[in-house]
Amino acid sequence: MIITIDGPAAAGKGTVSAYLAEKYKLAYFDTGMVYRAVGLQMVLTESDVNDEAKAEQVAKELSFPKMMELSKHKDFRSDIGGQAASVVSAHPKVRAALLKMQQNFALNPTFADGTSAKGVVYDGRDTGTVVCPDAELKLFITASTEIRAQRRYKEFVEKGIQTSYEKVLEDMVTRDKRDSSRSAAPLKPAEDAIIIDTSSLNINEVLQKIIPLVEAKL
Ligand code: DC
Repeated sequence: MIITIDGPAAAGKGTVSAYLAEKYKLAYFDTGMVYRAVGLQMVLTESDVNDEAKAEQVAKELSFPKMMELSKHKDFRSDIGGQAASVVSAHPKVRAALLKMQQNFALNPTFADGTSAKGVVYDGRDTGTVVCPDAELKLFITASTEIRAQRRYKEFVEKGIQTSYEKVLEDMVTRDKRDSSRSAAPLKPAEDAIIIDTSSLNINEVLQKIIPLVEAKL
């Protein structure tokens, strides 16, 4: 079973994806990681993130172990990693270079310990539109920009990352604009995706809406 969960940053995709993966014993692929890995590698090697040819080369050389190694870096989840990911992900050649790696995961999905899984929950921006257009269930999870910025700011504070709400909101507006206006796989719901707005819902209320949708597909 393949479930795709797309939507803008901090809409709740990660929490929902991890919950569904655990409950239905599916592997979880956070596809933002591949773009964060390429973006961070560009930053660490002092390469210009706007240099498409260089970013394509980094993307072609990216492996799962390298991605996992980069994910331990302090800036992988910070806004430095997020902005770099957003810029490199707008390059069509980078997206093309990373597509197979994401699609191949569904051919032989595995959990973190290497054991096989019966399916995958994909989390990203284009997993229902480009990576897995034949997924059994496609969700598009969204929320207002202000609510998402509040959630992201709270996460940063909890992790001890120094920032302000205004900065987080400004960065989110910039990233949303770039993610939705790029020519290659812009952020948008698949035609057959179910849209869930989490602005006024807590996580339990969101899951109460989603679980019946998954059960209906099982
Ligand atoms: O979900 P995230 O914040 O980790 O994603 C980081 C960036 O990667 C995001 O700004 C856009 C890009 N991305 C993408 O273009 N396609 C995906 N499937 C996942 C992420």
